[in-house]
Parts: sequence; C-alpha cells; structure tokens
Amino acid sequence: MNIAYINGQYASRLTASTSIEDRGYQFADGIYEVVWLKDGTLIDEAAHFQRLQRSLRELEIARPMSNGALKTIIQQLIRRNRAAHGNYMLYLQITRGVARRNHLFPKSAFPCVTMTLTRFTPPTEAEITNGLKAITCPDLRWARRDIKSIALLPNILARQKAAEQGAREALLIDEHRGVVTEGSTTNLFIIKNKVLITHLADTHILNGVTRLAILSVAKKLGIKIQERAFTPKELLAADEVFISSTTAGVLPISQVDAKKIPVGKISLQLYAAYCKHVAAQC
Ligand code: PDD
Repeated sequence: MNIAYINGQYASRLTASTSIEDRGYQFADGIYEVVWLKDGTLIDEAAHFQRLQRSLRELEIARPMSNGALKTIIQQLIRRNRAAHGNYMLYLQITRGVARRNHLFPKSAFPCVTMTLTRFTPPTEAEITNGLKAITCPDLRWARRDIKSIALLPNILARQKAAEQGAREALLIDEHRGVVTEGSTTNLFIIKNKVLITHLADTHILNGVTRLAILSVAKKLGIKIQERAFTPKELLAADEVFISSTTAGVLPISQVDAKKIPVGKISLQLYAAYCKHVAAQC
C-alpha cells in the first residue's frame, strides 16, 4: 500500500508531496471521493465519478482529465500496490492547484490530483447484528454540504468527540432548523412504523452513493420511503436507526446518546440487500 499517485507520478506514499502553495493546503480549496475497491472492482463506480464531476463543477475547478484517464491511473495504482484482491479504500483528491496565496481563483494553476489506496476491513457480522453507539452533536458545517469538499473541520471535530465518548459516529443536528441532517462521515436513516426515513438530498447533506443504493434496493423490496428532514425527537423515538457510507455499508446504531434502540429486521433486510447489490458488481 505504499505507492501513491500525485500529478502524473507514482511515488512512495511516505514521500509523495505537493507544494506549500497548494490551495488544498492553504484554503481547503478542493474536492475528494472515497470509493470501495473490492477484489479489483470499484463499487458503484459510475455514481462516484458522477459526484466527482458535480463537485468540480460546483466549485468551478477545471476538470483535470477524463474519467477514462482517471481509470487508467486507478488501474496502475491497483497493479503497483498489488491490490487486486481484498478490500481497499481509494482516496481521490483534486485541488484547484498551486499558486501564490490569494483568495481569487488563480488564472494559470492546474488542478492537483492525488490518489491513494488503503486496506480496510468492512464492519463485522457482530457489529452489524449488535449495532454501534452514536452521539448527537450540533451541525457546525457550511451551507453547501452537498459538495464533497475537503474542508472537513466540523466533521472531524464531531467524529473526535464521538470517539472520545466511545461512539462510532456523531449524528449532526442542524440547530437552526431543529432537524437531524446526517452523520459526520455517513448518511443517517431511521425506520418508524415500517417507513424508511432519510433527509432529502438537498444542500443540507452529502448525497451518499451508498444512500442512493440503499434507497434503490429499498424501493425494490417494497419498503415505504420518505425523503424528508426529521427532528432529534423522532430520531430518539425511532424503531430502528442505521448509518451508511462507502466504508461502513449499512451499519445499525443500537444506542443514540443514552437511548437504546434495538437493531431491527428492516435494517438487517436492507443490509442483506445492499450486500447483494455489491456482490452483483464483482
Ligand atoms: N464519507 N455524509 C458525509 C458527511 C460523508 O463524509 C460521507 C462519506 C457520506 C456517505 O457517502 P458515501 O455513501 O458516498 O460514502 C455521507 C467518506 C467515506 C469519508 O469522508 O471518508
């Protein structure tokens, strides 16, 4: 796992570096994607590439290369890291480039592209069936959470706070609207009276690729779906709660703050259906 890609070169992950004038470093002026590489297959590849292009467009960062060229680099990375088997997380970051520090967009900078592959272990069967603990935290993020920007300070503060309290995730509460948005690194679903409820994919949340896959399998299973904001009170009164992301998949939550919530049938049914959705691509 030691070879990274950086601006046209493959280099040791320990020494690969960019300039101190990289706008990612100075302004968090960039975007990223995290894709699950499972036994050599990029899971939900098209949806990740689509979101990547959308994030670039929204921030007016020039598209550095075609999807085909990105894929060629990814294939090289897989080969050089001997990563064709097992579970890896592909991290792909594009910043606006290197330029003397100035808030205005630079005229001549070329986007800086970096990629790494990291081995990871998906949640275990025990974690799925027992569920994990989450805490609630204020959502301190900006107003464009739909863009997968590398500016993640509020997310890391919330995630750190959760870890310090022995919790897997921080569930974020938008205190202005009085609703729960999502997790610090995951989307959030609740189930009440057999209805699957998750925040609408507007500018208040990141529209997760896993979220979309879950909604699609839920529809096929005939589960009723409501895409709408819900209150912290509804969260605590839910029959079932789970989070989702590329690396977490469908992960049941069995405790929110002091409230215990048993892992339920619908969450496990969706977990199984999501696993099938993944297996069908490999
Ligand atoms: N996190 N919401 C937020 C705030 C996220 O950071 C993520 C992903 C998601 C889920 O998106 P997806 O299903 O496309 O992974 C939702 C990634 C994994 C990360 O930052 O590491």
